[in-house]
Amino acid sequence: MQTYLDVAHYSNEGRLAGTMSHLPQEDRAKLPVFADFYLAKGLVHADPPDHTRIRRLILKWGFTPGQVETLRPRIEGIVAQLIDRVEADGQMEVIEDLAFVLPVTVRCDLLGVPHSDGLIFRGLADRLLGLLGRNRPSLELLLAAQEAILELREYLAVQSKRLEDGTSDEDGLLGRMFAAQQTSDALSEDELVNTIGTLLIAGHETTTSLVGNGLYTLLRHPEQWQALKDDPALIPGAIEEILGFESPLTRQPRLLKGDVELGGRQLRAGETVFQMINAANRDPTHFDDPETFDIERPSSRNLAFGQAFTSASERPSPASRRRSSSRRSSSACRASASSTSGPTGSSASRRCAS
Ligand code: HEM
Repeated sequence: MQTYLDVAHYSNEGRLAGTMSHLPQEDRAKLPVFADFYLAKGLVHADPPDHTRIRRLILKWGFTPGQVETLRPRIEGIVAQLIDRVEADGQMEVIEDLAFVLPVTVRCDLLGVPHSDGLIFRGLADRLLGLLGRNRPSLELLLAAQEAILELREYLAVQSKRLEDGTSDEDGLLGRMFAAQQTSDALSEDELVNTIGTLLIAGHETTTSLVGNGLYTLLRHPEQWQALKDDPALIPGAIEEILGFESPLTRQPRLLKGDVELGGRQLRAGETVFQMINAANRDPTHFDDPETFDIERPSSRNLAFGQAFTSASERPSPASRRRSSSRRSSSACRASASSTSGPTGSSASRRCAS
């Protein structure tokens, strides 16, 4: 199936607005805020040139791999604290005690908001992510997502007030985004809300699932776990292997820009297709022995962080593709996830940016 390089056939604009199209008209009419939110352009809901414009601004406001890297000591400190908390018990509920708390705490630091807001983000993310992974989400799930969007708008209004009052960190990513609204870098209000929504929930379940999937996979491969304990230098490669072997985010919806034949089937413009990340990561025509979990695999092998937009001139040759697939994925996203995946052994992840 020829999908690997054909990024130009697919669109991210409005890709989630269609998730309510199976509902009868009377139910769709109950979801105006949901529809508007997902029809708006935003970081993961735009194609070039809008995606390029918004992404460039996010990088300018402080989400470069280098800036994310500076969080590493802080992240290691949070992990140490979380482990200290349970050490005396001699056991822990890894997902609840570590995998959920870690990414949400780091996100608060990145955005420059109090850690107590992490609970708000978790509630928003659970509802906004609840409909992903389902082809025909129920009206209840969609209404819950709509409620979360309304709460997100309220949260941003409060946050904007806090910044005006000087009671919030102007130098966090959120503070810089709000400040830019007074300049020529301003996003439209819809773009701002949509993009901040992505930043609030990006890395939430993905990071949690990476920790959970990593633990599960290592438990199933005790000899590799032992090798990792014997040689911590293997940790970065092990995380890369877990990302590819049990990818946290399993699929991405895209809209077809034009009619296209895919796998012998004629598909029409406007239809939703899914990039199956897990299937791509186990594609034997691209990866050697993909069903084997091998933390010492010599080269990067995965598309766990997605497939970025590329122009024809940027496309790698098939030979270099296998070696460089990770570089084409979201570099800021990869940087933030790998910062939460440092030698402390904490990492994370399932669905990321929605
Ligand atoms: C293991 C953890 C993670 C995985 C597997 C993951 C996966 C992904 C994937 C597949 C995409 C592409 C989405 C698409 O094509 O529609 C993406 C985009 C993105 N992720 Fe993550 N992510 C992770 C962690 C994070 C973290 C911790 C953050 C931030 C705190 C983050 C922020 C973003 C952002 C901002 C984008 C949009 C990038 C762009 O469109 O330019 N991710 N991620």
